[in-house]
Amino acid sequence: MLVTKFSDTVRLETEGDLAVVRVDNPPVNALSADVRAGLKAAFDAVGANADITAIVLACDGRTFIAGADIREFGKPMQGPSLHDVEEAIENVGKPVVAAIHGTALGGGLEVALACHWRVAVPSAKCGLPEVKLGLLPGAGGTQRLPRLVGAEAALKMVTGGDHVPAKKAHAMGLVDELADEGGLEAAAIAFARKAVAEGKPLRRIRDMDEKLAEARANPGLFDEFRKANARKFRGFEAPEANIKCIEAAVNLPFDEGMKFERDAFMKLMTGSQSAAQRYVFFSEREAAKIPNLDGDVKPRAIGKVAIIGAGTMGGGIAMNFANVGIPVTIIEMKDEALQRGLGVIRKNYENTAAKGRISADDVEKRMGCLTGSLDLASVAEADLVIEAVFENMDIKKEVFTKLDALAKPGAILATNTSYLDVDEIASVTKRPGDVLGLHFFSPANVMRLLEIVRAEKTASDVLVTALDLARKIGKVGVVAGVCHGFIGNRMLAARQREAQKLILEGAMPWDVDRVLYDFGMPMGPFQMGDLAGLDIGWSKETSKGETVRDLLCEMDRRGQKTGAGFYDYDEKRVGSPSPVTEKIILDLSAKAGIKRRSISDEEILERCLYPMVNEGAKILEEGKAYRASDIDIVWINGYGWPVYRGGPMFWGELVGLDKVLKRMQEFETTMGADFKPSALLERLVREGKGFSAA
Ligand code: 3HC
Ligand code: NAI
Repeated sequence: MLVTKFSDTVRLETEGDLAVVRVDNPPVNALSADVRAGLKAAFDAVGANADITAIVLACDGRTFIAGADIREFGKPMQGPSLHDVEEAIENVGKPVVAAIHGTALGGGLEVALACHWRVAVPSAKCGLPEVKLGLLPGAGGTQRLPRLVGAEAALKMVTGGDHVPAKKAHAMGLVDELADEGGLEAAAIAFARKAVAEGKPLRRIRDMDEKLAEARANPGLFDEFRKANARKFRGFEAPEANIKCIEAAVNLPFDEGMKFERDAFMKLMTGSQSAAQRYVFFSEREAAKIPNLDGDVKPRAIGKVAIIGAGTMGGGIAMNFANVGIPVTIIEMKDEALQRGLGVIRKNYENTAAKGRISADDVEKRMGCLTGSLDLASVAEADLVIEAVFENMDIKKEVFTKLDALAKPGAILATNTSYLDVDEIASVTKRPGDVLGLHFFSPANVMRLLEIVRAEKTASDVLVTALDLARKIGKVGVVAGVCHGFIGNRMLAARQREAQKLILEGAMPWDVDRVLYDFGMPMGPFQMGDLAGLDIGWSKETSKGETVRDLLCEMDRRGQKTGAGFYDYDEKRVGSPSPVTEKIILDLSAKAGIKRRSISDEEILERCLYPMVNEGAKILEEGKAYRASDIDIVWINGYGWPVYRGGPMFWGELVGLDKVLKRMQEFETTMGADFKPSALLERLVREGKGFSAA
C-alpha cells in the first residue's frame, strides 16, 4: 500500500487501482481548513491518476466527519471552501463511496452527499444539525438532500436537526447499503469495485429530479409544514431559512439553489441568533470542566443509587437512573407514599410507551431497576444517595445524620434542596467531603439541567463524579456554589421581585407575561406561578393577606389546579385575564398609596431582566459560578430562556453592559437599593470588558 499525505489530517492510501482517502482530525474529524485543503488535493490527485478506478472516503477515530469546524466560524475563510471540496469529489470521474461510522453530521453529511454512494454501519447516524446552531446546511445539504430523500423528509431533517439512525437513513434512501459492524471499509471497497465492474453510471445527486417533481406536484407542502411546526419554531430565524432553501431546491435549478443557500447561510451566520447558539454549544461542553483541578481526578464508580423520598422530585430523579439501567432503591416513610410514588413512575413510563417513544418491554425493564423500601438502612449498598424529602433544614439534618451512620464508606451523599445551605447539611456528617447538592429541576425526568452544588468541603472527585453522572443520564451539569437559591433560583428571585412590584405600580400580570413570552420565554412569571401552584410555601394559618398571592390563595384561587389563580381557566386550562385578580391588584395598590402609572413594554423587560444580569454578575464575583457561560447554561436548560438569545449573561452583553449598568443606576436613583449595580458590572463597564474577562 502506498501512503501519501496531502495535509496534516488527510492521507491517501492506494493499493492497485483502489484509493482510500482518509481523514484523521480528532476528536470528531471536523472540516478544518487543513482537512478541506487535504481533501481537495487528494481528490484532484486521484482524479488525475489514470491507474485509480475506484475511491472510498473514510475516517479514522470514533466518527465520520461530524461537520464544519465550528471554531472557524466568524473568522476569515482559509484555503479551499467546502464547495470546492465537494466539486472535486463529485466530478472526480470515478466512483466515490463514503464509508460512514459514528456520525456524519452537517458539512460531514454534505461531503457524503457529494460522493456517489454511501455505505454505513448500523450504529452510524446521519444528520444536518445546523439548525441547532442557528444555521442551515451551507454546503449544498439543502439542495442535495431533497433530491435524494424527497422534500418532506428533508424538511424534517433540516429543521429538526436530529440524528437519523443508519437503518432509517437506509430506508429513506440516504444510505445505499448497510455494512456489518467492523466490516465497513471492506463493504465500501466492495461496493466501489462492484460499481466499476458493472459500469454503473456515477450518480451525482445534483442531477436527480424525480423526488423534486413529486414535491412540485404538492405545492401546499411547505405552508402545511410551517403551520404544523409554528409553535416549535417560534422566535427562531433558522427553521424558516431552512424551509426556504428546500423550497428553492424544488423550484430552482441546482446552481441557483446553491447560490440561494449560500446567501441564506451567510445571513444567518452573521446574525446574533447563530452567534448565541454556537456560544451555547461550546458553553455546554465547557460547563463539564472544573477549573484548577489538581492532577487527573478520577470519578467514583456509581453502580447503585438510593433516593430518599418518593414525592414529586424523588420519583422523577429515580427515572433518570432507571432509564440508563442503574438500579435504584427508593425509600419512603410510609407504604402508601411509596406505592403512590412508584405508581406515578409506572404511569409516566406507560404514557411514554403509549406515545411510541419506548416499548412495553422498556417499561418493565426500567421498572425492574426500581426497588421500594421503608427502611433507611437500605442505603447501605448505594454508591450515591440522593435525599429528596421535604424542604426543611431540621428534617434534612436528621436524615443526613442517619445517612452518615448507614451509608457505606465512600458513598456520595447528595441533597436535592432548592435553597437550603448545603454546608450546614454536610456539617452533621463525619464525611463532609462526600456531601454535595444535586439540584434537579421539575419535572426531574424531563428538565435537562442539574445544578451540582459544591459545598465548602466537597471533594474534587465527588464533583467530577457528579459531572460525569450528569452526562450519563443525559443532563447538563453545572457547578454552583452555596448561596440562597444557588444560580438559577437566586436569579429567578430577582425577576420575581420586579414582576410583583410592576403589577402594583401599574402593569397587569398579563402585560408582564406577554412581554416575557414575546421575548421568547415559554411563559411569563404569573403563568408559571399558576402552573406550579400559588400555594407552594403558603398556608392559610400563616397568610398575612398582604400580597396578591396571599389574597388569591385565601380565595382558593391557587392556580391552574383550582381553575383560577392570576388568570381564570376554562375546562381546557386555557387562561384569560381575570377581573377578580385585577380588582385585588388595584385595591392593593391603593392601600399601599401607590399612584398607578402606565408602564411601557420596554420598562417591563428591563425591570425583569436587567436585575437578573446584575444578580448573575454578583454570583460571578462571589465565585458561586465558575464562568458566566455556566449561568447561561442554567437558564437555558432549567428555565426555558430562549437559546437563540444565549442566556442572560450573553444577552446582557449583546444589549451592552454599559446600557444595562446605566439603566440599573437610573432605577436605583428612582426606586432604591434593589437595583444597586454589582461591583463587577461597574468594573467591566469601566474597563470596557465582557463577562468572560471576569
Ligand atoms: N467543530 C469544532 N469542534 C467540535 C465540533 C465541530 N463541528 N463538534 C464537536 N467539537 C468538539 C467539542 O467542542 C468537544 O471539544 P472539547 O473536548 O474541547 O470540549 C469535542 O469536539 C468532542 O465533542 P463532544 O464532547 O460533543 O463529543 P460527543 O462524542 O459527545 O459528540 C458529536 C460528538 C455528536 C459530533 C457532537 O460533538 C456534535 O454534535 N457536534 C456538532 C455537530 C454539528 O453541529 N455539526 C454541524 C456543524 S455546522 C456545519 O457543518 C455547517 C456546514 O453546513 C457548512
Ligand atoms: P414532596 O413533598 O413531593 O416529596 C417529599 C417526599 O419525601 C414525601 O413523599 C415524603 O413522604 C418523603 N419523606 C419525607 N421525610 C422522609 C424521610 N425521613 N424518609 C423518607 N421519606 C421522607 O416534595 P418535593 O417537591 O419532591 O421536594 C423534595 C425536595 O426537592 C425538597 O427539598 C424541594 O425543595 C426540592 N425540590 C423541589 C422541586 C419542585 O419543583 N417540587 C424542584 C427542585 C427541588
